[in-house]
Amino acid sequence: MSRINIVFICISAFVLVIQSEVNCISSGRTPQKYIVNLDIPAEKRWSHVVSEHRDFVLTVHKIMKSMVPKEIFPLVEFIAAEINNFIEQPYADEMKGIAKTLDCNVGDVVLATLIYDIASYCTSIVTQDSYGQIWHARNLDYSFTDLLKNITVEVDFQSNGKTQYSAVTFAGYVGIMTGQRPHAFTVTVNERDDGTLLWNILIDLLDKNAVSVSLLIRNALAYDHDFTSAVKRLSYTTTGAEAYIIVGGIKPGEGAVITKGHFKPDDVWMLNATDGQWFLVQTNYDHWKPPPPDDNRRSPATRAMNSMGSSNITVESLFHVMSTRKVLNEQTVHTTVMSAGKPALMRTWIRR
Ligand SMILES: *[C@@H]1O[C@H](CO)[C@@H](O)[C@H](O)[C@H]1NC(C)=O
Ligand SMILES: *[C@@H]1O[C@H](CO)[C@@H](O)[C@H](O)[C@H]1NC(C)=O
Ligand SMILES: *[C@@H]1O[C@H](CO)[C@@H](O)[C@H](O)[C@H]1NC(C)=O
Repeated sequence: MSRINIVFICISAFVLVIQSEVNCISSGRTPQKYIVNLDIPAEKRWSHVVSEHRDFVLTVHKIMKSMVPKEIFPLVEFIAAEINNFIEQPYADEMKGIAKTLDCNVGDVVLATLIYDIASYCTSIVTQDSYGQIWHARNLDYSFTDLLKNITVEVDFQSNGKTQYSAVTFAGYVGIMTGQRPHAFTVTVNERDDGTLLWNILIDLLDKNAVSVSLLIRNALAYDHDFTSAVKRLSYTTTGAEAYIIVGGIKPGEGAVITKGHFKPDDVWMLNATDGQWFLVQTNYDHWKPPPPDDNRRSPATRAMNSMGSSNITVESLFHVMSTRKVLNEQTVHTTVMSAGKPALMRTWIRR
């Protein structure tokens, strides 16, 4: 099998930024909010979200297609034509519905899902404050940032008029990279292995036992009712891409960074406040190895957490940590702060 690297993924690692001042809390707007009704047919669920962002989503598709090797298109088209065999429900039907609303090929929606899976540079922090409350903060960094800001939306997935889970996501995308199940857990994913091979991921998709990372996260949000069962599902489900999956719960000690290989975790790193481990910072490198000097977001985030202190955690103070130079950079699309035990605190800023 030929191993084709995607060069653009690496670009973001080197474009780190020069922002001397910590931004103030008003910096950035909140994303548009939508309800996705899980009680209506999957093909119709996203039409209001997608139609309001149609032009931007189509531009994203165009850019993504220009970035990947042409050799993969036939395979993407094959998967799209046989989508019911390769992508589980309700996601296959949701993708078909999105393609219909956009009036584009299902293959484009599939390809976008796969690329989002492997091309995000991010910083995630899970932390326990001195009162035992668990918090979770993340910056999502990406190339073509400005365009993605325009399709960043907040979605409450509801059934019987009640929010089952929420996500900060992109219009036209059915997977989840940042989510919260109220009173249960919060979850974010960071890319592992820059230069992950899209080709291999496509091949893995042909394996019915493997699931795309962002769909796995949505499954956890949809089907798991507590931290422990979410961590188990997120650790042991076979995925095409490797990933860092960060999970925060509602009880002391419920914070984990799963360093995921294809089949199982290579490591699960847990919060342990009695051992002084009151926060975990995860960027895009294995936590037990030093980060590369040209992309060290871990040290500034760690310093900012220590200077804030565990007795001083609020939505605003975590926003300030995520606004530290390098942690916040030119590629940052949005900052999100959440706490599953107090779901109403969930807040997102689309960064300037
Ligand atoms: C984002 O949306 C704004 C307002 O509609 C527009 O002016 C801007 O050009 C868009 N950015 C991109 C990269 O499309
Ligand atoms: C947390 O750390 C303490 C002190 O090192 C240790 O005794 C305890 O077993 C740890 N707890 C967990 C859940 O690992
Ligand atoms: C709490 O954070 C604020 C700034 O966010 C800082 O001024 C204050 O000194 C901090 N307090 C403690 C106890 O660390």
